[in-house]
Amino acid sequence: MKIVGGPASQLLAARVAKNMECELALVEFKEFPDGELYLRIVDELDGDTLVIQSTTTNDQIIYLLQLIDAASDGFLRVVIPYFGYARQDKRFKLGEPISARAIARTIEADEVYVINIHDQHTLEHFQLRGGNPAMNLSAAQTIGSHLKQMNFVSPLLISPDEGAIQLVHDVAQAMQSEFDVLVKKRVSPEQVQIQPKTVDVDERDVVIVDDMISTGGTMAEAIKLLRGQGARQVHVACIHPVLSLNARLRLYHAGVDSILATDTIERAESCMSVAPLIKQGVKAPP
Ligand code: R5P
Repeated sequence: MKIVGGPASQLLAARVAKNMECELALVEFKEFPDGELYLRIVDELDGDTLVIQSTTTNDQIIYLLQLIDAASDGFLRVVIPYFGYARQDKRFKLGEPISARAIARTIEADEVYVINIHDQHTLEHFQLRGGNPAMNLSAAQTIGSHLKQMNFVSPLLISPDEGAIQLVHDVAQAMQSEFDVLVKKRVSPEQVQIQPKTVDVDERDVVIVDDMISTGGTMAEAIKLLRGQGARQVHVACIHPVLSLNARLRLYHAGVDSILATDTIERAESCMSVAPLIKQGVKAPP
């Protein structure tokens, strides 16, 4: 099997190739003066291909489609570590598209794997060759194992809202630590208000865990709240470090000690790799 890494997932693809002891194909890409994108898989494929490409931007979605088309001869597995548009998974107002579904339907492959997709119902929208279901892999263990070796004092994991409870529960289990949840109310697309549950964080090291950090609004509120309640240290951890706009400034301004993330999106904060998870999750060749 050859590993083909897209422009958004070059490091991760190299790590997966190393973990799986497979060859990493060279890919070239560029933008034409009119904004159209070009891509070429330079190395010859062998009929069994694993494409890895996160869809962090609209351009990266096009690159994914180009990779899939270029690698379409033979058996094709596609890993989309961060599946963009996943939060647009419902028709909130009349006339809106279900964008996550629109994108899922464009993916033509034999197998698709995503990592901690926002809502698992989106998996049902993929229409794969052979009727295979798309698979969601969870990086909870990856985060839990990393946090476990960080020597926290009386660690407490916090879910910033009810949506992340299952993830935080699973991370806490992997780490053998306690966890609790905050209650979040979104007042506008950029602003959230957090009301505390009865959590005693005094003199404890707290890690707030979420599936993604986008604008940092959710985390910034939680950090301020927990700092105010006397936490000794406050760290944030996420699977997908989207970190849009001034998210980093918002988090450090709120008093965070560190930002920890996986490499589903390759950022300076990506200190945990999902490569071993992909190796474990991808089925053996048929
Ligand atoms: C929401 O449902 C997600 O799990 C995250 O809590 C949210 O997307 C984070 O967004 P932001 O960083 O913009 O508050």
